[in-house]
Amino acid sequence: MTDFERGIERLVFEHFDAHRHQRTLFDCGRPKLNEYLQKRLNQHMRKGIAVGYVLADPEGRIAGYVTHSAGRLPITVIPSGKGYPPDLPLPTTLIGRMAVDRRFQGRGLGAALLVHALRMAVQTTELVASTVIEVDALDDAARSFYLRYGFCELPDDARHLYLPMADARTLITEILDGK
Ligand SMILES: CC(C)(COP(=O)(O)OP(=O)(O)OC[C@H]1O[C@@H](n2cnc3c(N)ncnc32)[C@H](O)[C@@H]1OP(=O)(O)O)[C@@H](O)C(=O)NCCC(=O)NCCS
Repeated sequence: MTDFERGIERLVFEHFDAHRHQRTLFDCGRPKLNEYLQKRLNQHMRKGIAVGYVLADPEGRIAGYVTHSAGRLPITVIPSGKGYPPDLPLPTTLIGRMAVDRRFQGRGLGAALLVHALRMAVQTTELVASTVIEVDALDDAARSFYLRYGFCELPDDARHLYLPMADARTLITEILDGK
C-alpha cells in the first residue's frame, strides 16, 4: 500500500482546482468517469455547467469526486402520488457524476461523497429552491448504490433516480447522529 492509500484520514473535501489537483492519476474503473474528471470538469466549472468537489490529500491526489448542477424534471417525469404539482416542472439538484478511485473503493468514501453532496444540496435550498436530488446512475451497480440510500426510480428510466429533499435532510441527520 502506498502513502496515498494509507492516508485516508488526510483526505479533505475541496473545490476541484485543475492547477492543484492531480487528475491524470485518478482511476475509478469507469473510463467515462475518469475522462470526465481529466478532460471536462475544469471546462464545465468555468462555464457554469457543474461544480466539482474532490476528496484529496494535501499533495493534491484525488481519491474521489462528485459534481453538482441545477436540474429540472419535466412534467412527463414527475413521480405520481407524492404530492408534487403535476403541471409544473420541478427544480432539482443534479448529482452529475460521482466516483471513487479503485484504490479507495469499499472504504466508505462513496458514502462520504454522497453525504457531502446531500448536505450541499440541502444547504443550497435555503437560497435557491430545489424539490428533489436527481441522479442518472451509470450502470446497475451504481443504481444499487443509490437505491441503498433511499433513492427511487423516476418514471422515464430505471437508472434515473431521485431523492426528495426532505428525505435527504432526514438521512443526513441520521448519519450525523450515527443511527
Ligand atoms: C459506486 C461507488 C461510488 C461506491 O463508492 P465506495 O467508496 O466503494 O462505497 P462505500 O465504501 O462508501 O460504500 C458505502 C456503502 O454502500 C455499499 N455499496 C457500495 N457499492 C455498492 C453498490 N454498487 N451497490 C450497493 N451497495 C453498495 C457498501 O457496501 C457500503 O455499505 P455499508 O455502509 O453497509 O458497509 C464506487 O464503487 C465507484 O466509484 N464506482 C465506479 C464509478 C461509479 O459507478 N460511480 C457512480 C456513477 S453514477
